[in-house]
Formats: sequence, C-alpha cells, structure tokens
Amino acid sequence: MTAVATGLHDVVVASNEPVGDGLMRVVLSAPTLAAKIAAGQFVDVEVPGDASEILRVPLSFSHADPDAGTIEIVYAVVGGGTSRLAAMAPGDATTIVGPCGNPWPLPEGASRACLVAGGVGVTPVVACARMLSASGVAFDAVVGAQTSERLWGVEELDALGAGRVEVTTDDGTAGRRGFTTDALAELLADGSYDVVFTCGPEVMMAGVARLCRESGVRCLVSMERMMCCGFGACGTCNVAMADGSYKSCCKDGPVFDAEEVAW
Ligand SMILES: Cc1cc2nc3c(=O)[nH]c(=O)nc-3n(C[C@H](O)[C@H](O)[C@H](O)COP(=O)(O)OP(=O)(O)OC[C@H]3O[C@@H](n4cnc5c(N)ncnc54)[C@H](O)[C@@H]3O)c2cc1C
Ligand code: FES
Repeated sequence: MTAVATGLHDVVVASNEPVGDGLMRVVLSAPTLAAKIAAGQFVDVEVPGDASEILRVPLSFSHADPDAGTIEIVYAVVGGGTSRLAAMAPGDATTIVGPCGNPWPLPEGASRACLVAGGVGVTPVVACARMLSASGVAFDAVVGAQTSERLWGVEELDALGAGRVEVTTDDGTAGRRGFTTDALAELLADGSYDVVFTCGPEVMMAGVARLCRESGVRCLVSMERMMCCGFGACGTCNVAMADGSYKSCCKDGPVFDAEEVAW
C-alpha cells in the first residue's frame, strides 16, 4: 500500500472503559486518522496531566472505523502515562501522532493464516484479523493471557470469522492452562498455514518464531520498544537484526519478518 504521511491530529475521547483487570478500551474520535491508518500501524498519544512527562505513549489499535471516524485501542494500565490515559473521560481532548510505522503486510497468495496474541499484544492482532477478514483470508487464532480477568479479544476474533480461537491462560482460569506456543504447536501440526502473525511478550514471539521456522511457515512479528520520538529521529527503539545490523522499531517496524530479527 502507498505510505501515508504521519501527522499530528486533534482527538477527543468518545469512551474509555475497563474491559478487564488493568485493561482499558478507549475509543478516540479521530476522523482524519481513522480514514487512513492501516492494521499494524500505531499512534503516539499525548496524555495530559503531568507536565514532567513529555513523552507520548505508543499504542496500537484494534479497530479503525472510517464511517464513525473513530479508533479503538485496548491498553494495559502499567505506569504513569497509561494511568493518566485511564483517567480521561468522554469529551476530553488531546493529540495523537500517526499513523506511525508500517502495516501488517499480507503475503501474496496467502489464503490461510494463524494469529497468535499474548497479553495486550491482542490489540494489533484484532486489527490484523479485520484486515484478513476483509481480504477473504481464512484464519485461526490463539489468544493467551495471565488470567481470565486479563483476557480480551476472543469474542472480537470469533465475530470476525476466525475458524478456531484457542485460549490459553497461565493459571488455567480460561481455556487451557499453559502458553500460546503450546496451542500453536498443535495448530501448526494439523493446519496448513501460509503465514503466522504474532504480537505479545518478546519471549513468546521468539517461541512462535522458532515453531514457525521448524514448520516452514512464514512468521510476521509486531515488536515493542521504549520509544521517545516515534518517527525515526532519536534512535531509542533499535531492534537487533539477525545480520548484525539494527533497525528502528518505530520507522522500520513495528512489524518485522521473524527471520530478520536476532532473537
Ligand atoms: C508500537 C507499540 C505499540 C504498542 N501498543 C500497545 C497496545 O496496543 N496496548 C498496550 O497496552 N500497550 C502497547 N504498547 C506498550 C505501551 O506503549 C507501554 O505500556 C506504555 O508506553 C507504558 O507507558 P506508561 O507511562 O504507562 O508506563 P511507564 O511508567 O513508562 O512504564 C511502565 C512499564 O512499562 C514499560 N514500558 C514503557 N514503555 C514501553 C514501551 N514502549 N514498550 C514496552 N514496555 C514499555 C516500562 O519498562 C515499565 O516497565 C505499545 C508499545 C509500542 C512500542
Ligand atoms: S522512537 Fe525515536 S527513533 Fe524510534
């Protein structure tokens, strides 16, 4: 797809509600951005309320609705920025920079995909499912969380037409007890996937990448790094590549071919 210029957008909070333990879903009214952001890209959100915090918070999105002019983001409340974001109410205004980074690519000829999400990595994975659904690509999914209280996205993936959605939790309170990689290994054994898309903790994505390599299936990963600028200027978000070079997560990523990355 043609690259769309990153810009600064005025946005207004339409809703901001809990969807789990320490998990929030914010819907931002951002008509210009909703019309042009693509699955896999992210936004850099200014969160007001603390003058000592100048950095924006990088967040993926799960749904951009051009008709409603909104962007939906599911996020975990982990520190100052996301806590202030969780305190924002409908009608509150702020700015976001976007679209940042590159979209999930859809490999040519792919007809069957598997999605693997861990924790809040589910946010860009749900956006990916929407892209696959719109492109007529069949998909299964694995969604993992620490506990049932921190699980989100299963209903959304079902509604988007997933063939199977396997759920794993660390404590067994939903789905099977264990890791996403346990479920993926079984799916890879009897599925015939052209590509696997994954986002979650890096250790999980390393495991997903290894299983895909062993099965000869292409794997695309969405990486996370601490980010200061979000558009390739500061050099804080380097990702080490298998060939010894470095790429920026914000500008060259966040999506990489798993084989490119030095795990
Ligand atoms: C491209 C991208 C997309 C992201 N999408 C989402 C998303 O959709 N939903 C979501 O919940 N989170 C997402 N994150 C992670 C999110 O940006 C961090 O959780 C957030 O910046 C933490 O900010 P804070 O001020 O609340 O916490 P801080 O006080 O800054 O940090 C709290 C903890 O979070 C860690 N942290 C801070 N920033 C990052 C970061 N950029 N990446 C990883 N860990 C970080 C810190 O090391 C610390 O342990 C994404 C990150 C990136 C880079
Ligand atoms: S965050 Fe500045 S270069 Fe990536």
